[in-house]
Amino acid sequence: MKGIVYTEYGPPDVLQLKEVEEPTPKDNEVLIRIHAASIVWANLALVRGKPFLVRLAGGGLLNPKHKIPGGDVAGRVESVGRNVKQFQPGDEVFGDLGDDGFGAFAEYVSAPEYALAPKPANMTWEEAAAVPQAAVTALQGLRDKGQIQPGQRILINGASGGNGTFAVQIAKSFGAKVAGVCSTRNVDLVRSIGADQVIDYTQEDFTQSEQRYDLIFDIVANRSVSDYVRVLSPKGVYVACAFSASALFRGPLISMTGSKKVVQLSHSVNQKDLVFMKELIEAGKVKSVIDRRYPLSEVPEAFRYYGEGHAQGKVVITVEHNTK
Ligand SMILES: NC(=O)c1ccc[n+]([C@@H]2O[C@H](COP(=O)([O-])OP(=O)(O)OC[C@H]3O[C@@H](n4cnc5c(N)ncnc54)[C@H](OP(=O)(O)O)[C@@H]3O)[C@@H](O)[C@H]2O)c1
Repeated sequence: MKGIVYTEYGPPDVLQLKEVEEPTPKDNEVLIRIHAASIVWANLALVRGKPFLVRLAGGGLLNPKHKIPGGDVAGRVESVGRNVKQFQPGDEVFGDLGDDGFGAFAEYVSAPEYALAPKPANMTWEEAAAVPQAAVTALQGLRDKGQIQPGQRILINGASGGNGTFAVQIAKSFGAKVAGVCSTRNVDLVRSIGADQVIDYTQEDFTQSEQRYDLIFDIVANRSVSDYVRVLSPKGVYVACAFSASALFRGPLISMTGSKKVVQLSHSVNQKDLVFMKELIEAGKVKSVIDRRYPLSEVPEAFRYYGEGHAQGKVVITVEHNTK
């Protein structure tokens, strides 16, 4: 089969399209014929080998441990291991392979069943592949860490990117009033996915405004945590989705000594949350916003584009099958 392979850390040029062996599913795994995949930030970090922490966290100290990148996937089950209970050949699935060796930028991948869920029936392969990590991260940040409630005033910082476009829609589905922060060219996009208010960060600094928020979900984290805490309501919660040293180290003290909370999010692969997202999607409350689609052969270009940090929604890889 064809797959994108890298054997050293570096810029996107280290990613090469090669002929590789098709995986064989273990007893608890399914073999997926991949139709689409999408890029998440962890893919980029694991290809660069930076920040160095990603190597310590299982990426491989000197060279990449997992040779085929790609976590978010959508495809059809080709075959199943003997202990697989939930899926059978022919099923359409989507999932996040980030805890299970990656491998989505290829024609086939083996994955444990707990990383997968039935694909939303009303989505294309590309739309479904855009969902898993971005949407589940937003869900876990807003619902679990942020304890989102109907009627609350929520701010999404970085509302126009992969995570942000899901976060805006998920927050709306919980009945919140949503303000999305993005640059001028994305104002219409963020409004079109349901934001009640859009703040153009090139014109206005929300951390200096008189408005207060019950929950801030921050996918940019380019400010000190005190800037965000200042615009929280008295019992407000700040959830850093992007890594924030300031939130990580100062957050616990702020949370312990006052009524406001500061949390660093670390999403986890979770089948129940994938199913939750499938149901929201099928209920018409959430859709994927896709910026660009690239074929497997252009994965390095897709990484370069995503790495610029200004995607308008998700960057998706479409996998064509010429054989089999
Ligand atoms: N905690 C976790 O478990 C977890 C999981 C997944 C991802 N993440 C984090 O999420 C981040 C990547 O998110 P993503 O994939 O959604 O990124 P993305 O698709 O690259 O989107 C980034 C968005 O941020 C906007 N942006 C850039 N500068 C901004 C600013 N100053 N103010 C407001 N918006 C700004 C950009 O819009 P403009 O073009 O309009 O500037 C762009 O749409 C990474 O930091 C990653 O670590 C964390």
